Amino acid sequence: MKILVIGSGGREHAITWKLAQSPLVTKLYCCPGNGGTATLAENLSIDPQDLEAIAAFAKEKQIDLTVVGPDAYLAAGLVDLLQQKGLRVYGPTKAAARLEWSKVFAKEFMRQNQIPTAAYQSFDDPDAAKAYIQKVGTPLVIKADGLAAGKGVRVAFDQDTALQAVEDIMQARIFGASGARVVIEEYLEGEEASLLAFCDGKIAVPMLPAQDHKRIGDGDTGPNTGGMGNYAPTTAVNAQLLRRIETEILQPTMQAMAAAGTPFVGTLFLGLMLTKSGPKLIEYNARFGDPEAQVVLPLLESDLAEIFVNALTGKLEPAKIKWHQGRTAVCVVAASAGYPGSYQTGKVITGLDEVEDSLVFHAGTRREPDGTIVTQGGRVLNVVHLASNIEAALDGAY
Ligand code: AMP
Ligand code: GLY
Repeated sequence: MKILVIGSGGREHAITWKLAQSPLVTKLYCCPGNGGTATLAENLSIDPQDLEAIAAFAKEKQIDLTVVGPDAYLAAGLVDLLQQKGLRVYGPTKAAARLEWSKVFAKEFMRQNQIPTAAYQSFDDPDAAKAYIQKVGTPLVIKADGLAAGKGVRVAFDQDTALQAVEDIMQARIFGASGARVVIEEYLEGEEASLLAFCDGKIAVPMLPAQDHKRIGDGDTGPNTGGMGNYAPTTAVNAQLLRRIETEILQPTMQAMAAAGTPFVGTLFLGLMLTKSGPKLIEYNARFGDPEAQVVLPLLESDLAEIFVNALTGKLEPAKIKWHQGRTAVCVVAASAGYPGSYQTGKVITGLDEVEDSLVFHAGTRREPDGTIVTQGGRVLNVVHLASNIEAALDGAY
């Protein structure tokens, strides 16, 4: 099988790394890929925003399977376009990915299908949103409806912060058209966890639950980031809780999406808050998480290419998806000095070939023509270590 992976982050490096182990795979391409995928696949110089160019390449090279990493391409309809050309692609259609690209849609969907989530109201008028905040009081969470590169959510503990969020999102439009509507919701307390699932349109097979770390500094200090590391499996989701998440959230989602004529095929990501009254869904993502993929995929024993093909043919079998038992994976992100503020790029990275017992997924790197790897982003490397317990895995990664 010839497989094309779309995206350029640590997630796409992890997907490519896992696919490269499959005996079914004969050739891998990444578009655009990064310095890490370059060692496993052929990186393409096609602009991934040029969906027609991707489709033309896939058609010409007779790509057997395309895997879409980032949400933006799902929302732009890349899966639909490839399907129209008769090509196989792992990922949801634009209509199914709406679970991620519209928070208003996702919340209405949860309400209609009695999926446990934070109570909410949605608004398209900033004055009405502000009046609501003044009426109900804080804490509240204000969310831009559309995609905002993971930055569209503000947790407000006081009224000024909440009103400012409405102004920034709906009036100053700091996220552009994504801020035409907002969701204002109840603040939930609890521990957070992420559960991803392989989905074939009818059934969803959960992966191992993960937990992430968003603050920049060691010891949970400093400002929030796009994610500084994570680990899986988390004991915060035990077998009983997992069953509850499956019956109260995952299965109803699959059934309702299929009933609506938009069956979900691809990876569904549940962002969960484990509250005192049970698991509640904070959000859906319509793709692998980054860096969730980096810890979950190394724990997968089964063949990822085979799982993708089975998902596309509606033939996922839970018993056939196996995980390495008794292992914990930890991912630690190495970031550029200055991140999440401004930082420099183009710095040479050395020592990568001396790493022996950890995996290093590249997040923001570039491979120069002479083979040198240089930094190309804020979050640069994802160092993943597997061990029999979390302490040993953490030690190994550091
Ligand atoms: P989201 O992009 O929806 O995952 O939100 C980003 C982060 O905001 C989540 O990971 C939570 O930490 C926080 N958050 C979102 N919604 C809520 C909520 N209703 N209550 C508490 N925290 C929330
Ligand atoms: N790690 C969260 C995300 O991928 O959205």
